[in-house]
Formats: sequence, structure tokens, C-alpha cells
Amino acid sequence: MLDEQKKLYIPEHVGIIMDGNGRWAKKRGLPRPVGHTYGAKTFREIARYISKQGVKVLTLYAFSTENWKRPLEEVNAIMKIFRQYLIDSLTDFRKDDIKICFIGDRSAFAPDIIRLIDETEENAKDREGMVLNLAMNYGGRDELVRAARLLSEEVRSGAIRPEDITEQMISDRLYTAGQPDPDLIIRTGGEHRLSNFLLYQAAYSEFYSTDTLWPDFKPADFDQAIAVFNQRNRRFGGV
Ligand code: FPP
Repeated sequence: MLDEQKKLYIPEHVGIIMDGNGRWAKKRGLPRPVGHTYGAKTFREIARYISKQGVKVLTLYAFSTENWKRPLEEVNAIMKIFRQYLIDSLTDFRKDDIKICFIGDRSAFAPDIIRLIDETEENAKDREGMVLNLAMNYGGRDELVRAARLLSEEVRSGAIRPEDITEQMISDRLYTAGQPDPDLIIRTGGEHRLSNFLLYQAAYSEFYSTDTLWPDFKPADFDQAIAVFNQRNRRFGGV
């Protein structure tokens, strides 16, 4: 979509790797979980702002399949934030018409969190604004294994032959089925890696890394990412 006022192209799908909560807290002499609490605040503000910019799909990486390796105390603190967020989110984002979806393997969460996830999605299902994919216990490799299993079942049942499998059929079996691939992936906290985020979908995404730590990320930082994105020459393998 073209922002007529600023003459900037607004990407359809943006992914964000929200990194740096722990360092943000440490810099202030606070326990790491406090950084996640502030990160959750940023999460809400930024999601609202981005939806107003005309982005159609926003995917936020909240918890990876590898994050369970963190100290139990930190995992528990993150789960507590999720639980509270989910309770609030039953009404949150309603007036912004933001449609919340969850991507990732939800079966690993505590039963009350799974119930809240289901309820939140059910509540938001008729909204027509920006789709907000919250990636929780998400891993790109795990998602591809899941797609491979689904396709194998179809082969086994005789519904399809292995030689019929196409790239589109894999896309259709990812959590993001039916959504455009991300045009832009932003990573806060200064690292330059994907960390198992949207591996299949990111084939031609533009990557933008900023040193800003996630709790400090502001609408102006997003605007800066969009400005840089607009200077990129996307060729998708062509010339
Ligand atoms: C990365 O920072 C952050 C996480 C692994 C957790 C993300 C969680 C939130 C942003 C909370 C909000 C989410 C929701 C859905 C309410 P890090 O701990 O890896 O930071 P570091 O690199 O400085 O250690």
C-alpha cells in the first residue's frame, strides 16, 4: 500500500523479532523478567501504531521453541506475562479491530493458557482489521516438520502423489496459510539472525536490524525501518 502523504510504500506483512528485554532490564539493574513486562507494554503500543499505518499482517515473535531452555524462573515470569496479557486481550485491540491469531505449538502450554488462547482467537475471529500473529512456542523448523507430516498423511491416504507437491502446497500447510509472505522482518537488540523465525516465508523478506532494545522501540523506530525498506531494491531473484 502506498502512503500518499509520505509517498512511502507500506509493506503488507511485517515480522518483528522482539529482542533485548533482558539487556534492557540489566542495564537498569533490574531482574530480566522486568524487561519482559516493559516489552509487553511496547508490544501493545507498537501493534496499535503499525495497524494504523495500513500494514495487513503483523507477526510478532514472543516465545520460540528454544526459549524453554531459559532458567525456569524466567520462563515462569514470561508465562505469567502471557497469562495476564491473554486475560486483558480478550477485550484489548477490539476498538482497533485487530484480529489476533496465535502461531506455534500451543499444546505445550498450561491448560489455562491454551484455553485463553482459544478464547482470544474466537473473540477476535470476525474482526476485519490487521491480522496480528503472535508467535508463541513457534519455531520455523518445527512448523516445516508439521507441514511435512500433514503432506505425508495425504500421500499415505492416496489423496496426493509425492510428485504433485508444490511450494504453494507447503505454504498452505504452514501456520501462516493464506497470508502474504513477510516483506520486512525487523529485529531489535542488534543481532543479525533469524533465530528460527518464519524460515520458509522469509525467503525474500528484507531484513532490518536495529540496536534499539525492544522496550525502547518507538513508532519513530518503525518509521525509520519503513524508510530504509523503501530504499531497498527487491528483485526476488530476477534482475
Ligand atoms: C527477547 O528478549 C524476548 C523474549 C524471549 C520474550 C518476549 C516477550 C515479550 C516481548 C513479552 C510480551 C509478549 C506478549 C505476547 C505479551 P531477550 O530476553 O532475549 O533479551 P536479551 O537478548 O537482552 O537477553
